[in-house]
Amino acid sequence: MKISCIGGTKMCFVLSVSVCVVFFLFMPWIRYGSLTPQPLLACNLTCSNRYFVSQLEVVRLSPHGHNQSHRLQGWKKYSTGSGRKDVRHVKERLQIGDVFIAVKTTRKYHRSRLDLLLQTWISEAKEQTFIFTDWEDQELRQKVGNQMVNTNCTAVHTRQALCCKMSVEYDKFVLSSKKWFCHLDDDNYLNLRALLNLLSAFPHNADIYVGRPSLDHPVETLDRVKGDGSASLKFWFATGGAGFCISRGLALKMSPWASMGNFISTAEKVRLPDDCTIGYIIEGLLEVKLQHSNLFHSHLENLQRLPHNSLLQQVTLSYGGPENRRNVVRVSGSFNLEQDPTRFKSVHCLLYPDTSWCSHKKPSS
Ligand SMILES: *[C@@H]1O[C@H](CO)[C@@H](O)[C@H](O)[C@H]1NC(C)=O
Ligand SMILES: *[C@@H]1O[C@H](CO)[C@@H](O)[C@H](O)[C@H]1NC(C)=O
Ligand SMILES: *[C@@H]1O[C@H](CO)[C@@H](O)[C@H](O)[C@H]1NC(C)=O
Repeated sequence: MKISCIGGTKMCFVLSVSVCVVFFLFMPWIRYGSLTPQPLLACNLTCSNRYFVSQLEVVRLSPHGHNQSHRLQGWKKYSTGSGRKDVRHVKERLQIGDVFIAVKTTRKYHRSRLDLLLQTWISEAKEQTFIFTDWEDQELRQKVGNQMVNTNCTAVHTRQALCCKMSVEYDKFVLSSKKWFCHLDDDNYLNLRALLNLLSAFPHNADIYVGRPSLDHPVETLDRVKGDGSASLKFWFATGGAGFCISRGLALKMSPWASMGNFISTAEKVRLPDDCTIGYIIEGLLEVKLQHSNLFHSHLENLQRLPHNSLLQQVTLSYGGPENRRNVVRVSGSFNLEQDPTRFKSVHCLLYPDTSWCSHKKPSS
């Protein structure tokens, strides 16, 4: 990009420099055509109104990007089992002991949310479930011992604090020898059998990142990690509130941007929330595609719409918080809405009818 001036006059030099400057200034607009970058709250949905990502520069993708409906169709073969015959992967005999399950929580939800999880699904996966929190709670410590990890991250609900917890989760997973890393929030029910079915459908040792995309379009952000911030990257990411999983091989490849506190600095550089940053590293930097799955569910969806007959095949479920109590899955069982407002106990008793407290209302006969 050198403009030579035979005369070499001062005037000519100034002119050529100006031309170059103007060219560089307008290059991004030329490249992206009419797609004007606009500050957009790209992570609205995933971050559950947690914070405001105003600095994020994002452009909406034109329809020639990924065809989401096409990808979801392809995925259904995996997820619904209807296309199982077509999937020629050798099924790996995966056990729950092969999965590292991280549950992210915070001090104020130890009683109101976590106790329910401990009573239900965590009781079936005690050894591989780790609870990442921000307070040394003696009562919780007594219940779960070393399965509770005090991250020493602050309890405030900011991007930095959440990324701090994700960073500790990642490091703890890497130290374990598990094949899969699965992240969940403290308002998720995890169906362990459905999870194993899903994960064992993937080829052994493949780079897999699976979860529910929280937006109907990929995020696009300026690349401030690999590049100088002048080029952009577009990527899908799995919403943290619905849970997602990453295979070990892929997780290890994330190491330069995720291990030993690097996750926090990566998230700071791109100014993205924790779950977006995971997508950024995997899709954006490592160029591994998110496997879109509709088996993961967060409280941001209409959970009542989940069909009753496939409820027990879903990998994760959730429930509306105090502001939306009616947003729960529809399931009939021995507990009414008052006894089981989140419906997790009812779901658990359908999956594990032998649980002691499930038979509290024996069928009359
Ligand atoms: C995010 O939320 C704000 C206000 O709640 C809304 O104006 C904006 O359109 C939302 N953005 C997206 C991408 O949904
Ligand atoms: C996306 O894929 C679906 C199903 O294959 C198709 O019906 C639809 O027209 C496609 N949309 C675009 C924008 O290509
Ligand atoms: C948090 O701090 C305690 C006490 O200093 C320490 O023992 C523990 O290892 C720290 N946790 C992490 C995840 O670093």
